[in-house]
Amino acid sequence: KMNFKLAVLAGDGIGPEIMAQALKVVQAVCTRFGHEFSCEEALVGACAIDAVGDPYPKETHHTCLNADAVLFGALGSPKYDNNPNAKVRPEQGLLKMRKSLGLYANLRPVSVFEGMEHHSPLKEERVRGADFMCVRELTSGLYFGKPQGRSEDGNTAYDTCIYTREEIERILKLAFELAQSRRKKLTVVDKANVLATSRLWRQVAQEMEPRYADVETEYMFVDNAAMKLIQNPTHFDVLVTENLFGDILTDEASVVSGSLGLLPSASIGVHTSLFEPIHGSYPQAAGKNIANPLAMILSTAMLFEYALDAPEEGRCIREAVQASLEAKVVTEDLAEGTPAYSTSDVGDWVARWIAKKEER
Ligand code: IPM
Ligand code: MN
Repeated sequence: KMNFKLAVLAGDGIGPEIMAQALKVVQAVCTRFGHEFSCEEALVGACAIDAVGDPYPKETHHTCLNADAVLFGALGSPKYDNNPNAKVRPEQGLLKMRKSLGLYANLRPVSVFEGMEHHSPLKEERVRGADFMCVRELTSGLYFGKPQGRSEDGNTAYDTCIYTREEIERILKLAFELAQSRRKKLTVVDKANVLATSRLWRQVAQEMEPRYADVETEYMFVDNAAMKLIQNPTHFDVLVTENLFGDILTDEASVVSGSLGLLPSASIGVHTSLFEPIHGSYPQAAGKNIANPLAMILSTAMLFEYALDAPEEGRCIREAVQASLEAKVVTEDLAEGTPAYSTSDVGDWVARWIAKKEER
């Protein structure tokens, strides 16, 4: 019996709508398994800029640190995307949040739900059975390296890619351990034929390999990995890489599953951990009750598994999602020839399935 506290950061766009469904599901699981939980809401992104002028305010940081884990919806608003003069942007809040919470490992599982294979633009026989975990380093590399900026005349710009041995070791340790808990295969993705940081990554990984003798480790250049991910997605089990490569490869990998609306993520940190869908704030759908809440709901499954050490609860949520897909209780992005359900209808259905599971 657990009693846990969640920091709830709904964010912008469809964030609040999908978060409401996720919380219904967390409530249903807690009722079913006899846990209790409480929530503290906080602002992040455009809504935080509008309210207090800061995309990641101090109060939000404290709320996150005071909780057992963070649930995060999405952030971003066209208001800022289309304004090159904006001094503060919602995305800065995300980077600040990752850095200050020490969220160094971003786990993005990619798999194809049974019966969903045809949603992928790739051939069904290629994606069937694909099931891999992308581990993206999240608090270093090009995103955070200093110096970053422009020359005085404005005509030269620079970013810096820096990785320390410690940063590389801690993400690789997590990736090796994940591989041990799965199919024992690790692909280290880099550009060691060109980049010094990549050569350090490869060296450190090779030094660590003997400690994980049960894991089959391979090294792959990022350009080759980009090709292989869609050519032969079933090749991969755990894939680990640096921040920018991981950003790009995980968007690409999402194509395998066929729907961005089904992909959750977990960000594991030194101070806490955070769970969010990989899709964005989808402003065109905000307030319309049409967005797919399943990625957010699946993120709560990862919350139970990774933050609360409760794998059975996580499995229960995943089963409920699979059941909703089979029953075609889905939003318009997945409805084909069947009526589309609303965001809240899908949330209600999944929560009810969990509550009534034993009657089945
Ligand atoms: C992601 C996003 C972010 C990133 C942006 C919004 C800063 O693309 O979470 O993948 O690049 O990390
Ligand atoms: Mn991205």
